[in-house]
Amino acid sequence: MIAILIGAPGAGKGTQAKLLETNYGLQQLATGDMLREAIRSGSPLGERVKSIMSAGGLVPDEIVIQLIEQRLSTGAAGYVLDGFPRTPAQAEALEQFLAKRGEAVSAVIALDVPESYIVERVTGRFSCTSCGAGYHRVHRPTAIDGVCDQCGGKDFVVRPDDQQEVVEKRLAVYADQTAALLPFYKQRGLLSRIDGTGTVETVASRLAAVLKLTNQEKVSA
Ligand code: AP5
Repeated sequence: MIAILIGAPGAGKGTQAKLLETNYGLQQLATGDMLREAIRSGSPLGERVKSIMSAGGLVPDEIVIQLIEQRLSTGAAGYVLDGFPRTPAQAEALEQFLAKRGEAVSAVIALDVPESYIVERVTGRFSCTSCGAGYHRVHRPTAIDGVCDQCGGKDFVVRPDDQQEVVEKRLAVYADQTAALLPFYKQRGLLSRIDGTGTVETVASRLAAVLKLTNQEKVSA
C-alpha cells in the first residue's frame, strides 16, 4: 500500500502518519523530517534548504523527488507519504517513478482542518531534542512537565517555521501550490477527504476506516 496524506501545515499529517507506522506497519516518509535532519547534520543539502524552510517556502521539486525516490526503495510492505507530493510536478514524478516499478498510489487522504485551528495547533507544537517525539502544549503535553515521555529527555525545541507569520506564509503556499493536488487525485479516483478535527484518536479511526485497516492489522507486501 502506498498512501498519501495531504493537508495544510498543522493538519495532523505527521501525527497520523506515525500512528499508521506504529499500528499498521506502514513506513512513514516525511520530506519535512528528512530536510530538517539534513539541516541538523549540516550537510550541503541542509545548507541549501535552511533559509527556504525557515521562511516557509517550498524546497525545489528535484530535491524532494530525489529524497522520496531513494526512500521508496527500502522494501517496506507499505508507505505513508507525509508532506509529499506538494506540487503537481511532484505528483507527476511520483506517478512516473512508481509506474516504472509496476506500482501505483493506493489512496490519497486529505485531512480537512479549518484555518482557525491550524495556527493554534502549529504554534503550540514542540518536540524532544533527543528523540524527536512531538508534543503540543494543550492537546498533547508531556505526562511529566518538562520530561519527554519517550526518552526522559529534558530539552525541547520549537520549529523556526512555527512562528505565526511564517505559518501564515506556509498556509498561503499550501493554498497556491498544494491544494491543486486535490482535483489531480480526485480525477484519478484516489481522493478521500476526512474531517481532521477532533481528538488524535478520533481522526486515526476515520483514517483507518478509509484505508480499510482493522485494529492492529499489519499491512503485508
Ligand atoms: P513539513 O514538516 O511537512 O510541514 P507541514 O506540511 O507544514 O506540516 P506540519 O509538520 O507543520 O504539520 P502536520 O500536518 O504534520 O501536523 P502535526 O501532526 O505535526 O514541511 C516543512 C517545510 O519543509 C515546508 O514548509 C517546506 O519548506 C519543506 N518541505 C517539506 N516537504 C516538501 C515538499 N514535498 N516539497 C517542497 N518543500 C517541502 O500536528 C501539528 C500539531 O497539532 C502538533 O503539535 C500535534 O500534536 C497537534 N495535533 C495533531 N493532531 C491533532 C488533533 N487531532 N487535535 C489536536 N491537536 C492535534
